[in-house]
Amino acid sequence: MTRSNPLVAIYPGSFDPVTLGHEDIARRALRFADRVVVAVARAATQAKRPFFSLSERLEMLEEVFGDEDRIECDSFEGLLVDYARARDIRFVIRGLRAVSDFEYEFQMAQMNRELYSDFETIFLVPNVDYSFLSASLVREVAVLGGDVSPFISPSVLRRFEEKLGAEGVG
Ligand code: PNS
Repeated sequence: MTRSNPLVAIYPGSFDPVTLGHEDIARRALRFADRVVVAVARAATQAKRPFFSLSERLEMLEEVFGDEDRIECDSFEGLLVDYARARDIRFVIRGLRAVSDFEYEFQMAQMNRELYSDFETIFLVPNVDYSFLSASLVREVAVLGGDVSPFISPSVLRRFEEKLGAEGVG
């Protein structure tokens, strides 16, 4: 089967910060997508104040994916479906690490489809090395002085060092 239009998928998230697990999922998506837009949401909910600012999160994504022409990094405000529809993107990538992710992801997938009927969610399973990894755990370990260098790229580690001081993050 041949496709006339390039297959573009969006990989949205808070990316606070981007971890090696996120990186793995975005690069895996390139196995079937022609291009992937990694899109950082301004705030997942109004109640959650991010650790890294929106511009810091976007800069980290750009550093991490700077080697890959087929990955574009962007940010969006408001509903994911509005951003995707405006760009005519019909596929959304989400990583599923464990059964515990499933309920939330399933609800989000169904709600997004209610809001944008052409929007298909594609779940990808990360490398087993990252199946326990989450940005929130990485933040907690970094803030409490643990070594997070196995879980994030060197450029993200530098950002933690700048924010927290050099001790305890690598
Ligand atoms: O990395 P996260 O926090 O799991 O990502 C969640 C995210 C940002 C993909 C989700 O909260 C989202 O899409 N936010 C944008 C606002 C929106 O569309 N909310 C309705 C989702 S059904």
